[in-house]
Amino acid sequence: MSMSEKIRQNSLPEERKFLDAIIERNECIASETYEMVLLPEIDFPPSKPGQFVNLYLKGIFPRPFSIAGRYGEKEFKILYKVIGKNTEYLSGLQKGSRIKIAGPLGHGFEWKEKEYSGFVLVGGGIGVAPLFYLWDNLKNVEAKKYFFAGFKNSSEIVEPDGLGNILLATEDGSAGYKGTVVDLLEEEIEKFSSPLKIFACGPGGLLKKAVTIANRFNHDIEIALETVMACGMGLCQGCVVKYMAEEGEEFRLVCKDGPVFDGKKIIF
Ligand SMILES: Cc1cc2nc3c(=O)[nH]c(=O)nc-3n(C[C@H](O)[C@H](O)[C@H](O)COP(=O)(O)OP(=O)(O)OC[C@H]3O[C@@H](n4cnc5c(N)ncnc54)[C@H](O)[C@@H]3O)c2cc1C
Ligand code: FES
Repeated sequence: MSMSEKIRQNSLPEERKFLDAIIERNECIASETYEMVLLPEIDFPPSKPGQFVNLYLKGIFPRPFSIAGRYGEKEFKILYKVIGKNTEYLSGLQKGSRIKIAGPLGHGFEWKEKEYSGFVLVGGGIGVAPLFYLWDNLKNVEAKKYFFAGFKNSSEIVEPDGLGNILLATEDGSAGYKGTVVDLLEEEIEKFSSPLKIFACGPGGLLKKAVTIANRFNHDIEIALETVMACGMGLCQGCVVKYMAEEGEEFRLVCKDGPVFDGKKIIF
């Protein structure tokens, strides 16, 4: 084992060691967007929506991807957008290829069914990925569920499986509501009965506006941050965000303390 692998191994909790995983499926499902199903060679520990996996692809640093769904004890899926050299490489891998992964990592979303009349999921672009997994986990809860999904245009649309209230927005109006997903949220949210819990993931501007809306209507909100990461495990301090703690402004690491945070505590 190389020195860098030893360092990585030692800094992961016991239940989150490296695993080899076989690619079961790797399919283009929308513009530059792929769905990949991975089958770890040994059991993959239980996970929560909002948690992520690190994939070791090109170079020494891994790349983080949200778990977008689980199938049984082992298999899980990710959704990814091709934006640079690792995701380009990932998109070229064939069924049967083997990659190194670590996970599940980070803290996931929290929900207490009895406390809310409804759950509102708000995803922008590939930010829908962790919310697909959450949507799946919420399928048997009695509270109302709404999935707001926003994309630049219709070629980018990916929709969650299963039935439910899916509200679609595209910035160019080529499908669904014309505008951003948070514009749509702002128009619709007053129609839903309170109290609501909002879960959001996507670009910073979307998250900031979702938090503003949550504050205005006094709803709880959790956000999953997708800050650029390097080590992905608390060693490099490269994923720092400002956080409003009881004692005042502090820093938090997205990879270890997040990626899910109380949206009202993040300082944008
Ligand atoms: C917790 C977490 C979960 C994530 N989940 C997903 C997911 O489910 N699906 C998915 O497609 N992506 C997800 N991402 C983002 C994903 O990790 C990056 O897209 C990936 O690392 C890009 O690697 P690359 O080598 O292809 O691009 P690079 O060559 O590293 O980057 C290409 C360009 O994109 C920019 N960039 C890289 N990463 C990000 C980022 N996170 N946000 C904004 N700009 C970025 C770079 O600055 C550069 O300009 C997640 C990130 C985090 C932190
Ligand atoms: S990515 Fe290195 S500390 Fe978070």
